[in-house]
Amino acid sequence: MDPRSTAFLFEEQKHQLTETFYREKIRMKPIILTGDRPTGPLHLGHYVGTLSNRVRLQEDYQQFLIIADTQALTDHYDQPEKVRENITQVALDYLAIGLDPHKSTFFIQSRVPELFELTVHFLNLVTVSRLMRNPTVKEEVRQKSMEDSLPAGFLTYPISQAADILAFKTDLVPVGEDQNPMIEQTNEIARRFNFIYKSSCLKEVKPLIGNVGRLIGIDGQTKMSKSAGNAIFLGDSYEQIKSKVQKMYTDPSHLRVADPGTVEGNVVFSFLDAFDPEKNQVEELKDHYRRGGLGDGVLKQRLTALLEEFIAPMRKRRQEYEKDPGEVLRICFQGSERARECVQSTLREVREAMALI
Ligand code: TRP
Repeated sequence: MDPRSTAFLFEEQKHQLTETFYREKIRMKPIILTGDRPTGPLHLGHYVGTLSNRVRLQEDYQQFLIIADTQALTDHYDQPEKVRENITQVALDYLAIGLDPHKSTFFIQSRVPELFELTVHFLNLVTVSRLMRNPTVKEEVRQKSMEDSLPAGFLTYPISQAADILAFKTDLVPVGEDQNPMIEQTNEIARRFNFIYKSSCLKEVKPLIGNVGRLIGIDGQTKMSKSAGNAIFLGDSYEQIKSKVQKMYTDPSHLRVADPGTVEGNVVFSFLDAFDPEKNQVEELKDHYRRGGLGDGVLKQRLTALLEEFIAPMRKRRQEYEKDPGEVLRICFQGSERARECVQSTLREVREAMALI
């Protein structure tokens, strides 16, 4: 469009009006902050743990979604390209599941440098031994065998995450169960800051844990994760879904259809519990399976159809946005500007409370 044309000016005005209207409308709503590290595509475990809540809550909350690239670098500092590429992937996942950039603010952590000043001030309020006790960090250190080479940045990421959360005067943080220790750490920092600097500028937050705290992986061994190679991704094709369901761990002693089978620890049933809306039918299927006479194949077919129905609309939306990656980045950059204003305002209060010059 010609930038001198009336049509262009009209579009610009309309855009500005929408932006003002948007700001007015969301000002009064309680605030949500949550997000993800851009290290890979999101999967069904993320969906049941937190993503489904975000889609639901974006109507009634002012929701900020952090694509935490700086946090991702704390254990991927040697793979910055991977982190960078996954920023768009995570944003695409958000758009695919129906998060609406007009209702939720998507932003990129590294584009809001004020977060890192907050982090520095908070670092003084937490002891190293407290950081070492964080169960989530401990588990990650063990999984990644970082015991003897633990970067200071990784050990302290919960403090940076507390800054992410406190910077927005957040009310609610919808996360998976593994993030609960981060919320506790955040609230400790808020209390300590307010106590030491005789302030009330930081606000304690509440976690909101998803329906299924932990979705098991298709191998039935550990919770679903990309690194364990046991995940079904939100962007998977029908063929991928089908072959992953085919591989799902069931009951190894259920050899013949007629044999009685075990439901507990059977991954197919865990998934039916999480995704099948027909709860009564699932209970009947469990009884039948326990009695014997119900084959794994029938259950796997049911689950494949169910998951395909669930993922197909996401795949379609993703394909739409994939056609215009520039637009996806624009959404993130614009959101980052908006996020920055909020963080700057909290940082001003923090600096004042600390009597910084
Ligand atoms: N730690 C989260 C993850 O592993 C990402 C994250 C960064 C986050 N900052 C946050 C989550 C603030 C909730 C709130 O994916």
